[in-house]
Amino acid sequence: MFITFEGIDGSGKSTQIQKLKRRLQQNGVQVKVFRDPGGPVVSEKVRELLLNPDYDIDPVTELLLFSAARSQLMAENVIPSIEEGKTVILDRFYDSTVAYQGYGRQSVGLDEIHMMNRVASHKCEPDLTIYMKLPLHAAKKRMSKNKDRMEQAGDSFYNKVIQGFNRLAEQEQRIFTVDARLPTEEVHHKIWTLIDRSF
Ligand code: TMP
Repeated sequence: MFITFEGIDGSGKSTQIQKLKRRLQQNGVQVKVFRDPGGPVVSEKVRELLLNPDYDIDPVTELLLFSAARSQLMAENVIPSIEEGKTVILDRFYDSTVAYQGYGRQSVGLDEIHMMNRVASHKCEPDLTIYMKLPLHAAKKRMSKNKDRMEQAGDSFYNKVIQGFNRLAEQEQRIFTVDARLPTEEVHHKIWTLIDRSF
């Protein structure tokens, strides 16, 4: 099974992913967790480039770098793990590209973003996506003070990103929206109910 988590920075994805991983393992499921961008050495290097506030990166270059990091993550980690019968949980995937590069940066048209996503994912689609929905003012309280290059974008960028995630959640049946303002345990309970039904 291939599960992805999406949402703006500060939406609590990482906490929920760790909780879900533990719960699945307690149920005898073999789980692998990766982050996108990240995972293999090459993708981690690209992540460093993408998040470093010292670099000024052109929006199209940014799209290509996120895609390059993802392609390597798929080839080296995600696809082999799925083929071994493991459940893979990804902290972000190509819906982030639609939301951040498509709606946020508007670097190229959405059709082109979707095409790029198909290529970079090696045509691998998540079975289930959890969208941790959170209003911007709540997310900002949770964001760290040391902002990375992406987090330095202003409110109007983040509002467009949220709009992108909301639109995707309406369009895609595999996406389940969870209210990330709820207490951590309640969010976990909702996610677990969903996942338990899918196994
Ligand atoms: P993270 O801090 O949640 O690991 O994500 C890194 C940042 O990269 C975050 O601000 C979201 C952004 N991002 C994109 O802009 N496009 C993408 O395709 C992905 C995967 C992440």
